[in-house]
Amino acid sequence: MKLSFSSPPFHFLFFFCFSIVTLSSLTVNAATCHVDDEAGLLGFKSRITADPSGMLTSWKPGTDCCTWRGIRCLADNRVTSITLFGQTNKPNSFLSGPISPSLSKLQFLDGLYLQNLRNISGPFPDFLFGLPKLLFVYIENNDLSGRIPNSIGNLTRLYSFSLAGNRFSGPIPSSVSKLTELSQLKLGPNLLSGPIPYGIQQLKNLNYLTLEQNRLSGPIPDFFGSFPELRILNLSGNRFTGKIPPSISALAPKLAYLELGHNSLKGQIPDYLGNFKALDTLDLSSNEFSGVVPRTFRNLTKIFNLDLSRNYLVDPFPEMNVKGIESLDLSYNSFHLKEIPKWVTSSPIIYSLKLAKCGIKMKLEDWKPTATYFYDYIDLSENEISGSAVGLLNRTSYLVGFGASGNSLKFNLESLGIVSRLKYLDVSRNLVFGKVPKAVSGLAKLNVSHNHLCGQLPATSFPASAFQGNDCLCGSPLPPCKV
Ligand SMILES: *[C@@H]1O[C@H](CO)[C@@H](O)[C@H](O)[C@H]1NC(C)=O
Ligand SMILES: *[C@@H]1O[C@H](CO)[C@@H](O)[C@H](O)[C@H]1NC(C)=O
Ligand SMILES: *[C@@H]1O[C@H](CO)[C@@H](O)[C@H](O)[C@H]1NC(C)=O
Ligand SMILES: *[C@@H]1O[C@H](CO)[C@@H](O)[C@H](O)[C@H]1NC(C)=O
Ligand SMILES: *[C@@H]1O[C@H](CO)[C@@H](O)[C@H](O)[C@H]1NC(C)=O
Ligand SMILES: *[C@@H]1O[C@H](CO)[C@@H](O)[C@H](O)[C@H]1NC(C)=O
Repeated sequence: MKLSFSSPPFHFLFFFCFSIVTLSSLTVNAATCHVDDEAGLLGFKSRITADPSGMLTSWKPGTDCCTWRGIRCLADNRVTSITLFGQTNKPNSFLSGPISPSLSKLQFLDGLYLQNLRNISGPFPDFLFGLPKLLFVYIENNDLSGRIPNSIGNLTRLYSFSLAGNRFSGPIPSSVSKLTELSQLKLGPNLLSGPIPYGIQQLKNLNYLTLEQNRLSGPIPDFFGSFPELRILNLSGNRFTGKIPPSISALAPKLAYLELGHNSLKGQIPDYLGNFKALDTLDLSSNEFSGVVPRTFRNLTKIFNLDLSRNYLVDPFPEMNVKGIESLDLSYNSFHLKEIPKWVTSSPIIYSLKLAKCGIKMKLEDWKPTATYFYDYIDLSENEISGSAVGLLNRTSYLVGFGASGNSLKFNLESLGIVSRLKYLDVSRNLVFGKVPKAVSGLAKLNVSHNHLCGQLPATSFPASAFQGNDCLCGSPLPPCKV
């Protein structure tokens, strides 16, 4: 999922609002915060064993806790939310230790956001049951473990509940059915097992249900008539079996994300999916779906991300009617597309194209995509593509990966533009000739095996298998060149 909120106006707006919030919290909360809240927060800090980036440095006894980093107060100087975020791109941006139960002293807390702190550990925080005003819980991307208690059903007021990205195991308690105010339920990735409790159908306000990357099993319950607001459904990376339940058709008006990849689902892709007017992302990859892709897919005019790879789907693939697709993966089915589809070639915004083993027979120079600027991944492996890749790679500036193994590409490797962003290059099993250029040493992964390359290899750390099966390559990791 690529979000594009990085335009300058957004930053400006964010900064502007942020300044107002900061200023108002400074002025309104001139007095010190409630003693219970201060004690609760200091109790939390005292159990933290490592805070290398100084996230809690401002949490000092005797200072107004409403001004501490991550703390928000409303009326009466009572703490209403705790928001601590680790920055995923900074290795020392984490907290270690358990979540102290002393947070139960914060009786006015309505939001607890402990996100990307990575090393916050321990069991499910039972003190949540003692917080009468709690509405939002996001304990995400930490290291909590153990079972989710049955008493979870007591948190009936909750509006959002996320334990995403921890190591919780055991079943999803059936008492989750009592959380009828929930609009967001996020429990993946974790290590949860067993079936999806049928009682989840009581959560009629759900707009966001993500249970991806767990060990959940059994059929996907046929209860989707109960979620008129559902916009995001992610069940990818579990062990679900059976067919796509027919009631999913009830989600047609609003569903934007349907992700069922990496399960063991089978049967045909249902025709009604073509009626999903708001569908942005459809991932059915790595299942056992068979038959044709429904002709109704022509009606998916707003789809941006389509991944049907690694199933048993057959021709004909429908001519799509999209204005622009961002990422497409149809690899490893039984398609014989013959050429790269026109609706792909004409997309102005595509950044990831994966059509491995799609029965494409063409000369690569004959492919003239409208826009190559945004491409970061292209995988055309295991087709019958001839000609040269030099022209295509010259037209991309942001390419990170290019895979074209198992084709009949014939070009001089020294003419290939290897931009500094390129990290993965696999042109093994083609008819590539010339020498291996020095520039490949900057790649993270390279495979040029089984071509017609010759000459001394530059110094790299790739294994011999990346170079084997060529005409006359020599030098480490292959045997030395004869002098
Ligand atoms: C993460 O937390 C565990 C348990 O609290 C601790 O043993 C480990 O050293 C911590 N890791 C880091 C990098 O602080
Ligand atoms: C959950 O609610 C039940 C019934 O109100 C109560 O008996 C029980 O103690 C509560 N459990 C927790 C952990 O708060
Ligand atoms: C769904 O889960 C997959 C991983 O299985 C993840 O890559 C994707 O970002 C998730 N999408 C949403 C909307 O949560
Ligand atoms: C697309 O939708 C229109 C109306 O919503 C319908 O008449 C048409 O049959 C659909 N096309 C396909 C191929 O399903
Ligand atoms: C590709 O770019 C390289 C370096 O900029 C240039 O030498 C070469 O002529 C270009 N090849 C084609 C086919 O555009
Ligand atoms: C390169 O590709 C060949 C043949 O496809 C394969 O046997 C070999 O393991 C690969 N080596 C690397 C380093 O990827």
